[in-house]
Amino acid sequence: MASLSAVTTTRLLTSANRLLPCATSTRLSRRTVLSLNSLRSSPFISHTFLPQKSYLRTISSGRIGYSTVSSPKCFASDPEQLKSAREDIKELLKTKFSHPILVNVLLVRLGWHDAGTYNKNIEEWPQRGGANGSLRFEIELKHGANAGLVNALKLLQPIKDKYSSVTYADLFQLASATAIKEAGGPKIPMKYGRVDVSVPEQCPEEGRLPDAGPPSPAAHLRDVFYRMGLNDKEIVALSGAHTLGRSRPDRSGWGKPETKYTKDGPGAPGGQSWTAQWLKFDNSYFKDIKERRDEDLLVLPTDAVLFEDPKFKEYAEKYADDQDAFFKDYAEAHAKLSNLGAKFNPPEVLI
Ligand code: HEM
Repeated sequence: MASLSAVTTTRLLTSANRLLPCATSTRLSRRTVLSLNSLRSSPFISHTFLPQKSYLRTISSGRIGYSTVSSPKCFASDPEQLKSAREDIKELLKTKFSHPILVNVLLVRLGWHDAGTYNKNIEEWPQRGGANGSLRFEIELKHGANAGLVNALKLLQPIKDKYSSVTYADLFQLASATAIKEAGGPKIPMKYGRVDVSVPEQCPEEGRLPDAGPPSPAAHLRDVFYRMGLNDKEIVALSGAHTLGRSRPDRSGWGKPETKYTKDGPGAPGGQSWTAQWLKFDNSYFKDIKERRDEDLLVLPTDAVLFEDPKFKEYAEKYADDQDAFFKDYAEAHAKLSNLGAKFNPPEVLI
């Protein structure tokens, strides 16, 4: 396995992935299937590059088994599988809650970073970016902003393997919305049916996600989020997701190595959280920034500006005072974020 040259490997993986969607008349040779299966088990090659085992099994046995392959609606996520996947994600959140990788916050970030590459000024899919599952490819996972997200992907991969008709794009958004709810946040009015990109070449270029410390934070947030078609209210509401999680200097360069809130974990100790109870979704992010309550709590330049810019401040003050208002606006903004750039086929699946 290790003797395969990088070029051969890339060609093999690329051609295999091209065959994935809608491969009604496609036949991978048995040899190719065997090679792919051996690549899959290799610790040197990320399985996220590979066609799903079930797909390979289907092809190698000459049986085109599931409707996602043969029907024109080949990309649709099956509603029953989506529901079961949601239950599995809930289970994952419970069982892995004290796991070194704190699943829920990672999942929220994974969904956001898949969707947040959207550029409303580009019409073509998938060049416009957005919620299309491109973040499963190593080339995009290696973007600086995505440091650490490979762990979230590894946790979701078994669920993806189990529910082969659920697309990555749907699974990322399902996982994020489920994690928000399970952490005590609002139910997000989600729809499903997102089509996946199929090859790494369809990933967006690096640099579409926001920086935490730009020279003019308000202008930068507006540049990036307006490009996604989001407005001031949505910028402030979505920033409230930082009520969950931590920043780690070894990943993003931001935050303290550890604080009194993170030194004992749960999970791998360390990092700096925005809130004291950083596994609970509530409006404490806004309250804590407003009061600058504690030096152990993180305030990025892009967080601070929410109480400095007059328009942002209007919403930030409101959310600090009224958790219900925050939950309502957050749920709407998160649903909108989760649909950015997505191509739905069929147009809408509700679960
Ligand atoms: C407004 C612009 C934003 C900036 C500049 C920003 C920046 C960052 C940075 C620097 C980190 C720390 C990463 C690390 O060190 O591991 C982080 C973490 C996080 N971000 Fe954001 N973010 C933004 C918006 C959002 C949005 C819109 C969401 C979700 C809707 C979100 C969800 C999260 C979560 C959940 C974490 C914690 C991850 C963990 O604990 O592993 N962020 N963000």
